Amino acid sequence: MKKVTLIPGDGIGPEVSEAVVKIFHAANAPIEFEKVEAGSHMIETYGAPIHTSVIEAIKKNKVALKGPITTPIGKGFKSVNVTLRQALKLYANLRPVKSIPGIKTRYENIDLIIVRENTEDLYMGIESMVDKNTAESTKRITRVGSEKIAKFACEIATKQKRKKITSGHKANIMKLADGLFISSTKKICSQYENIQYEEQIIDALCMNLVMKPEAFDVILLPNLYGDIVSDLCAGFVGGLGLIPSGNLGDDYALFEAVHGSAPDIAGQNLANPTALLQSSIMMLRHLEEYEIADQIENAIFAVYKEGQILTRDIGGTASTTEFTQAVIDHL
Ligand code: NAI
Repeated sequence: MKKVTLIPGDGIGPEVSEAVVKIFHAANAPIEFEKVEAGSHMIETYGAPIHTSVIEAIKKNKVALKGPITTPIGKGFKSVNVTLRQALKLYANLRPVKSIPGIKTRYENIDLIIVRENTEDLYMGIESMVDKNTAESTKRITRVGSEKIAKFACEIATKQKRKKITSGHKANIMKLADGLFISSTKKICSQYENIQYEEQIIDALCMNLVMKPEAFDVILLPNLYGDIVSDLCAGFVGGLGLIPSGNLGDDYALFEAVHGSAPDIAGQNLANPTALLQSSIMMLRHLEEYEIADQIENAIFAVYKEGQILTRDIGGTASTTEFTQAVIDHL
C-alpha cells in the first residue's frame, strides 16, 4: 500500500473525492488515503482555510490528491491552491487535454499538453494600493523559473514522443517579463534536437488554437496564460468536468482537477467526478501503478462509450453517485 494525502476541499470537492475513493476501493488500488481537511469550512477552526499540518501531511507522503477549494473574489484570504504550490515548490502544472471517445464536441481527436509555470507571474500575490484609487499587481518572471519549466516541458515532450513545443507570450508589450520567459524557453528547448520549438503571441495563439488545435502539441506558458488557456482547451473536449492536472516539483506532487469548487452545483450530487478521477489516474502513473491506472481509465472510457449514464455537464441526467457506480460496474 502506498500512502497518499487526500484533501477533499470544499464545494463539489467532497462529492468528487468520494467518487474517487469508492472507485479506488472497488478496483483494489494499492493506495491508502490519509484524509486532511482544508477549505472554507476550516476557517472557524483554524482562522484560515489551511493549516500548516496540511502541508506537513503532504510533505510526509510526498504525493497528494486534492479537491477544489474556494477562493473569495476581490477580498479575503490568499488562495489555498497558490499557498500549496508555493510552499511545496510545485513549479510545474501539467494539464493534458485529450478527447474522450463517446463525448461529442465541436472538435475531434484533441491531444494537447499544457505546461503551465505554477509559482511565478501575477500569481505571486504581490499587490498593493498605490493610493485609494489605484491598485498594482506585480508580475514577476525569473530566468531560473522559466528555464526550469522549459526543461520540464522538454522532458515531458521527450518522454511522450511529442514533436513540438509552442511557447506563449506577450513580449511585444511586456518586453522584460515575457521577454525573459521566451528567451529562457528558447535557450532550453533548442537543446533538445528532436523537438521543434516555436513562439506565438498569446492572443494569436488563442485564435490559432481555436481555429486549428491539431497544429499544437505541447503548449508552454507562464502562470496566468496557462490558467486561461487550459480552461479554453477544456472546452474542446467537453468542459471542466473532465480535465486533470498534476502540480509537480522536485520533491512533491499534488494532483487535482482543473475545475474549481463549482458553488452553483455543490452539495446537489450533480458534479462530474471524471476530472478528479483522471487526476487520480495521473497520480497512479506517477506512482508507477500503471496497470490499475489503465483499468480505471478503461472503465471510465467504457461508460462514455456507452453514453447511457452521463452527468448533466455532458448532456446526461445521471447524478455523481450514479456515474460513480457505472464506472465501478465496468471495472
Ligand atoms: P468552476 O470551475 O468552479 O466552475 C465553472 C463552471 O463549470 C460552473 O458552471 C460549474 O458548475 C462547472 N463545473 C466545474 N466543475 C464541474 C464538474 N466537476 N462537474 C460539472 N460541472 C462543473 O469555476 P469558478 O466558478 O470560476 O470558481 C469557483 C471557485 O473555485 C472560486 O472560488 C475559485 O477561486 C475556485 N477555484 C479553485 C480551483 C482549485 O481549487 N484548484 C481552481 C479553479 C477555481
